[in-house]
Amino acid sequence: MNAEINRQWLLASRPESMVGVDNFARGEAAVPTPADGQILVRVTHVAYEPAMRGWMSERPGYTTAIPIGGVMRSQGAGRVVDSRHPGFKPGDRVSGMFGWQDYALAAPGGELLSVQKLTDGVTEETALSVLGITGLTAYFGMLDVGRPQPGDTVAVSGAAGATGSVAGQIARIKGARVIGIAGGAEKCAWLTGEAGFDAAIDYKAERVSRRLRELAPEGLNVFYDNVGGEILEAALNNIAVGSRIIICGAISGYNTGALPAPPRNYMAIVWKPSIMAGFLLGQYADRFDEARSQLGEWVADGRLTYAVDVQEGFETVPHTFLRLFRGQNLGKQLCRIA
Ligand SMILES: NC(=O)c1ccc[n+]([C@@H]2O[C@H](COP(=O)([O-])OP(=O)(O)OC[C@H]3O[C@@H](n4cnc5c(N)ncnc54)[C@H](OP(=O)(O)O)[C@@H]3O)[C@@H](O)[C@H]2O)c1
Repeated sequence: MNAEINRQWLLASRPESMVGVDNFARGEAAVPTPADGQILVRVTHVAYEPAMRGWMSERPGYTTAIPIGGVMRSQGAGRVVDSRHPGFKPGDRVSGMFGWQDYALAAPGGELLSVQKLTDGVTEETALSVLGITGLTAYFGMLDVGRPQPGDTVAVSGAAGATGSVAGQIARIKGARVIGIAGGAEKCAWLTGEAGFDAAIDYKAERVSRRLRELAPEGLNVFYDNVGGEILEAALNNIAVGSRIIICGAISGYNTGALPAPPRNYMAIVWKPSIMAGFLLGQYADRFDEARSQLGEWVADGRLTYAVDVQEGFETVPHTFLRLFRGQNLGKQLCRIA
């Protein structure tokens, strides 16, 4: 038994509307010892997804709610410090669902997004961003559901975030013209500068529907939506016949304490016969290697860029989560805790 303490952040209460740091409480436990088939990981990086807000709630979703008093669930990266699994040894760098704590027990194999060894030369930041959940989500959502064709006009909401920034660049690699929708001039400048988007709309300062009409007079062939609500409605006002509307997420509704706002103009998909489809990354588990390999190739040859926002320190872990909902992150939100 290890004498060191395992610092943890626990779910203290379920948020009614906007999540706050008060919904979390500090906990401590003994550092656990791995059983047969398990590894013990010293967590170095916590990774954040808006979906974690859903895991805090008992509302129906795609997975079970985190119990009150349970360690906050999240992806992360770290180093193996003890192993009773034949495929892993101390010193191996790994990613997995490690939670908000210093030490995590994990059983490689079996579960989706279970422990993954990091390839030599791939940093934790890269493994958790463009080659992690959000990069893979962008890959399958854009390519399998959106299917952008050369010459198409594609718009992406939440475009300066971890998923949106990769999704837009994938459409560009496939020969489409790409418009990003994001909050603030700085994010828009990053999109059209570093990330190579053809145009960007600052939804906090501009009329999204009108700007889409100006930028895409022939209509959008693909809309990749991370936001929902009014931005989805603005895009539906501007679709072309035969368009594909990809529902990846609806972050504008995650903290309202109510069901997501409906797109009031959904009849647009009848008037401009189009398809609106959702997807869940988990559907594609048997193709993760394909996606990581292709995304890695695009990064290596300079066609795909990505941003990571790394905050520092264990005490900062809950505050960093809130950055997603305040729009403070550019690219993937991480916190380095060791
Ligand atoms: N379907 C799947 O399998 C799957 C898998 C992973 C993620 N997702 C979804 O993908 C989306 C993006 O996730 P991510 O991890 O890449 O996060 P992210 O985009 O890196 O971060 C969230 C961003 O959302 C924007 N935002 C926050 N509140 C908003 C609001 N009220 N209205 C409009 N925009 C708001 C902010 O950007 P601005 O500054 O631009 O407002 C913020 O930076 C989420 O909806 C998530 O649930 C789906």
